[in-house]
Amino acid sequence: MKSTLLIVDDEKNIRDGLAEAFGMEGYEALTAQDGQEAIKLLDERYIDLVITDLKMPKVSGMELLQYIEERWQNIPVIIITAHGDITEAVSAMQYGALEFITKPLDLEHLVKLTKNALEIRELSITNQELREEVAAQQRISSIIGKSPAMRKIFDLVRKVAPTKASVLITGESGVGKELIADAIHNLSPRRDKPLIKVHCAALAESLLESELFGHEKGAFTGAQARKRGRFEMADTGTLFLDEIGEINQNVQIEILRVLQDKKFERVGGETTIEVDTRFIAATNRDLKAEIAEGRFREDLYYRLNVVNIHVPPLRDRREDIPLLMATFLHEFSQENGKDLEGFEPRARQALYAYDWPGNVRELRNCIESSVVMSSGRFITADDLPPGPRSTQEKREMHIPALSSLEEAEKIIIMETLAALGGNKTKTAEVLKIGRKTLYQKIEQYGIDAMEKQDQTANA
Ligand SMILES: Nc1ncnc2c1ncn2[C@@H]1O[C@H](COP(=O)(O)OP(=O)(O)OP(=O)(O)O)[C@@H](O)[C@H]1O
Ligand SMILES: [Mg+2]
Repeated sequence: MKSTLLIVDDEKNIRDGLAEAFGMEGYEALTAQDGQEAIKLLDERYIDLVITDLKMPKVSGMELLQYIEERWQNIPVIIITAHGDITEAVSAMQYGALEFITKPLDLEHLVKLTKNALEIRELSITNQELREEVAAQQRISSIIGKSPAMRKIFDLVRKVAPTKASVLITGESGVGKELIADAIHNLSPRRDKPLIKVHCAALAESLLESELFGHEKGAFTGAQARKRGRFEMADTGTLFLDEIGEINQNVQIEILRVLQDKKFERVGGETTIEVDTRFIAATNRDLKAEIAEGRFREDLYYRLNVVNIHVPPLRDRREDIPLLMATFLHEFSQENGKDLEGFEPRARQALYAYDWPGNVRELRNCIESSVVMSSGRFITADDLPPGPRSTQEKREMHIPALSSLEEAEKIIIMETLAALGGNKTKTAEVLKIGRKTLYQKIEQYGIDAMEKQDQTANA
């Protein structure tokens, strides 16, 4: 379905030019020459996104924005503004505008902003629609995603699941490694047989062996009865060795033997037990580096890593964020008996912009706590936990009394740079100075050099 955009500008050239450009990108573009006309269209037509100028006769862009925020919370608004009016554009963002872009317009950038904003807007479609969509293409087992990286992973999972090949799943904490292990098992011919999980890091070294291989009665103090180990339990099924990077060298050797010979003995036992098990392992460590440091056996690595599935961090596949947000929102709304419809634009923007060091796990927890905190029909930026919320907070800077003008200027430049993620073009725009002047001042105050020092101090 084509998305419908509303382009509002009193300059005919800009309006028509944008309409044409977006038309070529496959959007339906409606135009209005001022806020009043825009409001009329908003009331008559289904509009997905508004791009508006600020300074217009009759009803201004700011007034239009306020109207949209009151009535049509879910319509994202992108502000276009003349070069000198950044302050007003910034306050428009505080009123709920999603982004602003200055004239002369960088069309490519505007198209990208629009595309992103519409992606985020997907969230406000009804849960029913969403579930149908998710059911089709964007999930395998309970793993959700639509980024190219996740699609590749879906393909790999489908290919490898029917085989008996060992799989090593790598990636940062919280990216969904365990979910992938579940999916492989559930899509394999062993799906009706046990999937046994061992959290290698959670078990004390002395216990790990007995957990894995089992023990005979009296094998050690406290071994009052014979116990079957996880390898035995996983016979005919799948064994998932989670956090494999945490096991010591002795156990590594024993696991290697099971992988090679499919045989082992219980601790304190003589009988050799044979098993038919499919192995999946996961780690958030860089095993190649562990091998180089002599902490992980190379032969075991190659046995486990017949197929590698690497899951990139969430910040490198942001296209998955809206879908995950919507899914978790649905899940936790039901769980908490709340009737939440979606996310308010600033909240959406915050979730989309945040770096998610704890990956999907952190996003999931964040949505759960936001649902609990929420009191309206939409999650607001104030409902979010501090991490993502901070991406939208108004920053303030502190200039000590008795500073010289130069010292104050230096602080202003540093803080603005920091608030804009080091983007020098935007910093120059906000400070209303030329880029060249900014570079000179950065040089003069040694700001870059200090940033680097900071980084090394933190490393
Ligand atoms: N693509 C996804 N779709 C839906 N839920 C996901 C996805 N990825 C992760 N999750 C959820 O995020 C949480 C963390 O996932 P999981 O336990 O699989 O991560 P992990 O990579 O094993 O992390 P760790 O290394 O810390 O053990 C779980 O609640 C899981 O359901
Ligand atoms: Mg895990």
